[in-house]
Amino acid sequence: MSTTEKTTENAQLKDIISHAKEYGFVFPSSEIYDGLQAVYDYGQNGVELKNNLKTLWWKCMTQLHQNVVGIDAAIFMHPLTWKASGHIDSFNDPMIDNLDSKKRYRADVLLEDKAAEYEKAGDVSKAQALLKEMGRLLEAEDLKAVQQLIISENIKCPVSGTSNWTEVRQFNLMFSTQVGSVAEDSSTIYLRPETAQGIFVNFLNVQKSGRMKVPFGIAQIGKAFRNEIVARQFIFRMREFEQMEMQFFVRPGTEGEWYENWKAWRKNWHLALGVPTEKLRFHDHDKLAHYAKAAVDIEFEFPFGFKEVEGIHSRSDFDLTQHQNLSRKKQQYFDNDLNEDGKPYGNYVPYVVETSVGADRLFLMTLCNAYQEEEITEGDNTKTRTFLKFHPAIAPIKAAVFPLVKKDGLPEKAMQIFDDLKFDFKMIYEERDAIGKRYTRQDLIGTPFCIAVDYETLENDTVTVRERDTREQKRMHISELRQYIGDAVSFKRIFEKL
Ligand code: GAP
Repeated sequence: MSTTEKTTENAQLKDIISHAKEYGFVFPSSEIYDGLQAVYDYGQNGVELKNNLKTLWWKCMTQLHQNVVGIDAAIFMHPLTWKASGHIDSFNDPMIDNLDSKKRYRADVLLEDKAAEYEKAGDVSKAQALLKEMGRLLEAEDLKAVQQLIISENIKCPVSGTSNWTEVRQFNLMFSTQVGSVAEDSSTIYLRPETAQGIFVNFLNVQKSGRMKVPFGIAQIGKAFRNEIVARQFIFRMREFEQMEMQFFVRPGTEGEWYENWKAWRKNWHLALGVPTEKLRFHDHDKLAHYAKAAVDIEFEFPFGFKEVEGIHSRSDFDLTQHQNLSRKKQQYFDNDLNEDGKPYGNYVPYVVETSVGADRLFLMTLCNAYQEEEITEGDNTKTRTFLKFHPAIAPIKAAVFPLVKKDGLPEKAMQIFDDLKFDFKMIYEERDAIGKRYTRQDLIGTPFCIAVDYETLENDTVTVRERDTREQKRMHISELRQYIGDAVSFKRIFEKL
């Protein structure tokens, strides 16, 4: 990637970050104390957008699939959970320090960035060979060779510009804390680094209480915590974030088919949200996580390149078997369907296909995808219009109501419309400033419809509805508004594409 290209991409991300702050989407955490690295707060518009994304995911998983149900497990779990899951022993990132800048980097990210450089320069086979070699070395835990690879690839620290690297070391990513008042070893517990384990330990509770039949899934949305050493790219990599995960329990031997099914379904879900197909791609993992037998990322083209938004993992019976061994409680399912020999499949530990998407990464993808700048000409003036082109179903505010002027009964009429529609939609009433400025403010937060009340409204109960993307205005009767807006903002518009 050339320096100019890099600068443009960084500028694009910078614009999005400052837009997110200025218009109430995302703020740095505890900003008055200069913030806390890799931790962010969602503002008044951000929380609406994020909640809409979460509700959409939840409904798509648990409402459109009869055999997927949800749970909400606690963040704190018995410490043995993390021994069983392998996170205590294997949830590490390979880190390397630059001795001149004293900056620490993830070794695999440095190599991935180098491969991305080769790819951008058109040398795809060199990029692939590098990733393959990296995957092989990390799989073999040959950290010395990973360091050598970084040196031989002439990778330099972006801050100091030198290759004065330390050896590569593994860092565990889990946060720990103490339960109760005594800091003994036995009282150490962890903030969960993934929500999935809350699902695994409840597998039999849900299966039995819900009389669920394999194949079935359990979905969950919740916070996860990772002590990410390298905090980068805004809300892309956070220390406290939210995951939306689903574990799909299947009969052993059928996991390949389910893996392909969920892979396709989840990619289609992102497309249904309005992400253009050329901005999404699959990326097979070069290094598999300790639990995975196969894994693929759904990547989005962020301003800083194609990066993971969601992972689809074939986790075999690894987690349930581990929990069975450590808890000494059977994690088996009795399958009374008949096999080819006409006999019941009987008892087995189900295999698992997981879909795991970060709510914050999805939010960032949605924001980057929605952020639009267009040149518009009004009379002799050409100016840039910035607007957020969210799918109306996930837009934070669905419609704004404006009286043309603040007198002659127009505010009262506009308020009546607002009061009537607020039962169905998240609305805004706004009477300050010229109407052009009010439209601009709504464009900047992505409100799909602006309803203007003028003198004609007082005569015949009609209003103008201005559409965000085209800026076109149409006149309609007040009684048509509910259906007009309702049709456009309904989750159904997304469901029917799935
Ligand atoms: N249960 C499997 C699992 O946790 P993962 O690939 O480590 O797999 C799944 O994480 C998703 O969670 C990622 O695709 C990403 O969207 C999100 N995620 C992971 N780490 C994150 C972080 N530090 N900040 C924000 N999102 C993160």
